[in-house]
Amino acid sequence: MRLLSYTLFLVYCCMHFAQAAAAAAPASADNKSVLPVVLWHGMGDTCCFKFSLGSIKKLIEEQTNGTYVRSLKIGANVVLDYESGFFIHPNKQVDFVCKLLADDVRLSNGYNAIGFSQGGQFLRAVAQRCPNPPMRTLISLGGQHQGVYGLPKCPTLSVSSCEYISQLLNHAAYESWVQNDLVQATYWHDPLHESNYKLKSSFLADINNELYINEGYAENLNKLKKLVLVKFLNDTIVQPKESQWFEFYAPGQDTQILPLNQSKVYKNLRLDQLAKHGKLQFLSTEGDHLAISKAWFIENLVPLLLEE
Ligand SMILES: *[C@@H]1O[C@H](CO)[C@@H](O)[C@H](O)[C@H]1NC(C)=O
Ligand SMILES: *[C@@H]1O[C@H](CO)[C@@H](O)[C@H](O)[C@H]1NC(C)=O
Ligand SMILES: *[C@@H]1O[C@H](CO)[C@@H](O)[C@H](O)[C@H]1NC(C)=O
Ligand SMILES: *[C@@H]1O[C@H](CO)[C@@H](O)[C@H](O)[C@H]1NC(C)=O
Repeated sequence: MRLLSYTLFLVYCCMHFAQAAAAAAPASADNKSVLPVVLWHGMGDTCCFKFSLGSIKKLIEEQTNGTYVRSLKIGANVVLDYESGFFIHPNKQVDFVCKLLADDVRLSNGYNAIGFSQGGQFLRAVAQRCPNPPMRTLISLGGQHQGVYGLPKCPTLSVSSCEYISQLLNHAAYESWVQNDLVQATYWHDPLHESNYKLKSSFLADINNELYINEGYAENLNKLKKLVLVKFLNDTIVQPKESQWFEFYAPGQDTQILPLNQSKVYKNLRLDQLAKHGKLQFLSTEGDHLAISKAWFIENLVPLLLEE
């Protein structure tokens, strides 16, 4: 199980900056106004790979004249950090991160945050559960805010291993041992068995106020200055793609997407209030999961980090 997951999820891995990238001039703003930035990596990745979040950290530093960027390492070292993406329950990870952020004096006046893939919904959980220090703008890159239903392609795996994982998620995702042992099961969202999902999902159903409405979650989420959701139009990993914009299948089937403003989570998390105040922003870009170019990052995301 463990080894299989490694191999499988490696294909989910990492940001790869597409080459292209123009060398953009630094954006203009007063250094002092740039808030620190917190990054949370996706599964199969770590805080610090040079080809992945390491390069993003560097890019943000360059673009902001050296603002403080903290790329979260979950656990004592990079190996544990890598494993956390699969095997450490998100609730534990979020608790851990809340403590890290609270202990970091450089963040005490607030920070912006960027979540990569599942790091997007994990940082949203941080915003909802731990309002101090205050998160200002949350950018979610390919996050799965209403979960996933379906196994991504797994080209590096044998057909039988792929089948095995698929069977596990399809038939046992809501078993407690799977919920405890496999991070991806905690945001597995089966639209054919919505009530199972609501009762058994040990992470996503909670942060999405599915079963029990936690007013504090909605309140804290509305403290954000902005929630920016980025969808990858040609994503072959996140099923359905629309989850990146907080949408999902209408209950009872797995083809039709329910528009966000008709879904329960829209009201239950008071996303309607965020939208009403112009704080909910949807961006999209061509390309597969997390496949963004340096130029796109500089053009579309850096300005969000420089806003007052
Ligand atoms: C970075 O510094 C340069 C030169 O001091 C300045 O022109 C530019 O506005 C600064 N950019 C930011 C984002 O602070
Ligand atoms: C902005 O940052 C640059 C590079 O770190 C530094 O040289 C410059 O003095 C800073 N400007 C202000 C206004 O803080
Ligand atoms: C990506 O998806 C968009 C929207 O569905 C489509 O218009 C575009 O042709 C696709 N691009 C590629 C390279 O497949
Ligand atoms: C829901 O959003 C759509 C756009 O996605 C809009 O056309 C429609 O008016 C909205 N409906 C409500 C009830 O707000």
